[in-house]
This record gives sequence, C-alpha cells and structure tokens, in this order.
Amino acid sequence: MNLKNIKWQSFESQFSLDRAAMARVESLSESSIEARGQFHLVLAGGSTPKNVYTLLKNISTDWHKWQIYFGDERCLELGHQERNSTMAFEAWLNHVDIPEQNIHVIPAELGPVEGAHLYNQTLSKLGDFDLVLLGLGEDAHTASLFPGHSWDNNLDALAVFDAPKPPALRISMSPARLSRSKSVLFLVSGIEKQTAINQWKAGDAIPASTVTCDNGVDVFCFNVS
Ligand code: 6PG
Repeated sequence: MNLKNIKWQSFESQFSLDRAAMARVESLSESSIEARGQFHLVLAGGSTPKNVYTLLKNISTDWHKWQIYFGDERCLELGHQERNSTMAFEAWLNHVDIPEQNIHVIPAELGPVEGAHLYNQTLSKLGDFDLVLLGLGEDAHTASLFPGHSWDNNLDALAVFDAPKPPALRISMSPARLSRSKSVLFLVSGIEKQTAINQWKAGDAIPASTVTCDNGVDVFCFNVS
C-alpha cells in the first residue's frame, strides 16, 4: 500500500481514542444507512476494541439497519470466553436490538476448514463493507493474518493453522476481502506495538499493510507513534 494512503492519528488517552473510534463508527453508520439503507460493519477481535463496543451501546440509531461480521475468529466452542464474538456480544451486541439474522458470526466451532467454507458462502453473497475495524499484534499481524503465512486472496475466508498467537486454529477474512470496504480503521494501543508500527511506517510488507482501501486507511494510535 502507498504509505501516503495511511492516515495516522495519535491520541492523548485510551479514552479519547475509544471515543473518536465510536464517533467514527457512528458517523459512518449514519451516512451508509442514509445512502444505502444498511450499514455493513466488520468487527475486530482482541482486547483493544472492547471499550469502543461498550460505548456503541449508547448511540441512537436504527439497529435493524446494521449488519455485523467478524474479521477473524478463534476456533473455540460457541460462547467460549476467548472467542472474539463472545467479547463483542458481552460488551455490546447483547445490549442492543440488532436482529439475530444480521449478526454473522463465524462458525469457528466447526473447525478452520468447515467454518471457513461456510463463511465463504456467507461473504460471497455480499458487496463491499462500509467499515472494517482491525487491531494490530506485536508481530504486525492483523485479524488472523500472521507473518510468514501465505493467503489465497481468491477466497474471502481462510482456514488458519499454527497461528503463533493462541489458539493455533483460527479463521480469518483474507487481505483481499478485508480491503473490499469503503473505510478501514485500525485501533492500536500500547508501546509493545511500536516495532510493528515502525515496520509499517518503513514500508515493510507486514500483514497489516496488506489491507488497503481506495479511500485510504485510518490508524488510531495511543501510547505508540
Ligand atoms: C485476535 C485478533 C487479533 C488482534 C491483535 C491485537 O483474534 O487475537 O483478531 O488480530 O486484533 O492481536 O490484539 P489486542 O487488541 O488484544 O492487542
């Protein structure tokens, strides 16, 4: 990706980052629903987005017009505390009126191969997303796209084996599918991510840099620059 297309934004506090991210999701939901009647949002996993999801509980919107997807998932039984979907439901989705059929959970409990196969069927019926949220790992991974792994960008959802961040078995949207979005927003917090940010700014081919967006990629940072 052309580094010029990345908009870096640093925040003074985690809270100001969370509030800015919530405001970005809210404003894009309004413009998407106004323009196309629906808002297609891909959620990030890990711990960083949790506060943003909690803040989203309180916005005023027509939740029936929201469609929720997951950028990646850990192959654990449904409801397992370590699943990204469990985090999102507990922080936000259980508390708002998004119709169940609008929340497209990755069936990761079926294992990487079967789960990815079914999620490919779900995603194949869709156009571009309106917003993709992503995190960044210390090794510069994003979603479940890890350094040293290869990805079939002809697929929307990938089976992931031997992920260096537990659990080893995961399912991830491909770089190509994550890039089919009108907006992409990375949420990055913590000094432990500095090396990954340095690699990214140096133009290294890291997993995070494989996700592109015609409108540019936004990276909200706290405690890392
Ligand atoms: C996962 C995530 C992963 C995460 C990064 C950052 O399933 O673990 O999808 O890509 O976003 O590892 O994680 P933290 O936000 O917890 O630092």
